[in-house]
Amino acid sequence: MGSSLAGQVAVVTGASSGIGRAVAKILAAEGCPVGLIARREDALRELAAEITASGGRAAVGVADVADRGQIESAVAAIRNALGPIDLMIANAGIGKPTQLDPVNITDVEQTIRVNLLGVVYTFATVMPEMLARKAGRLVAVSSLAGYRGLPGESAYCSSKAAVNVYLDGLRIHLRGTGVGVTTICPGFVKTPMTATNTFHMPGLMEADDAAKRIVRAVKRGKKVFNFPWRLHLMTKLSRWLPDRTIAWIMSDYNEQAATGVPKPPTL
Ligand SMILES: NC(=O)c1ccc[n+]([C@@H]2O[C@H](COP(=O)([O-])OP(=O)(O)OC[C@H]3O[C@@H](n4cnc5c(N)ncnc54)[C@H](OP(=O)(O)O)[C@@H]3O)[C@@H](O)[C@H]2O)c1
Repeated sequence: MGSSLAGQVAVVTGASSGIGRAVAKILAAEGCPVGLIARREDALRELAAEITASGGRAAVGVADVADRGQIESAVAAIRNALGPIDLMIANAGIGKPTQLDPVNITDVEQTIRVNLLGVVYTFATVMPEMLARKAGRLVAVSSLAGYRGLPGESAYCSSKAAVNVYLDGLRIHLRGTGVGVTTICPGFVKTPMTATNTFHMPGLMEADDAAKRIVRAVKRGKKVFNFPWRLHLMTKLSRWLPDRTIAWIMSDYNEQAATGVPKPPTL
């Protein structure tokens, strides 16, 4: 995939809100026919109308990415409307605190299903056609949170760590096939997901800014794109910090989580 995306058919999951919505708008402005996937049909239709009114092309597919049948049908409908898919961006995700007593197993399961299996199912819908055409790019929006397990965020961090590793393997496995893989690991982005966070979010950026950086990384065919660089560096260094320091850094959040104040500190 070269530096221009014009004419490439792109699909974005989690396009009804936040980063996915902003990425879809930029891709449409760059000349990509865009397929928009999420569960909230009204929000998707509104975005599709906005894109069409600006002279772009868009198709909507309503699906829960954690449901294989639903994501397959949604992608098939978009393929029928827009043609073979060149770029698949698996961005849909959720963040819920991980509790200790009792362990909120249902939330943990849902986090792994949506954040990890959602990516696997989404990629599987386009892998055969991309391999047959010897072209395409698979992109997942993961997180810097995948580089360090954080107290109260075990499920989210592990789901993103698994995405990073799954994509590492996939990228190497797909060498020479013409199909590229890009892992995107953002820091804090202002979206509904982080809207209830009350703690300081270093390097917090607007969704439009994050989306511009993501599209640029996709155009350049980056393997892994971590941003912003300062928070990436801090996250990498945090791997060498003792547990007590991480516990101290996260103490505010964990205290609030323990008292039941709903505030997922997702990044
Ligand atoms: N915001 C941050 O600071 C940040 C930082 C690093 C990484 N990320 C990652 O960026 C991605 C987008 O997050 P965001 O911040 O833009 O959050 P957001 O505004 O809450 O958007 C999440 C999107 O995912 C969709 N979604 C959630 N569960 C879904 C499901 N089961 N099936 C289909 N779609 C589903 C939502 O649509 P519906 O509700 O309509 O289904 C929505 O469009 C996530 O993977 C998140 O982990 C976010």
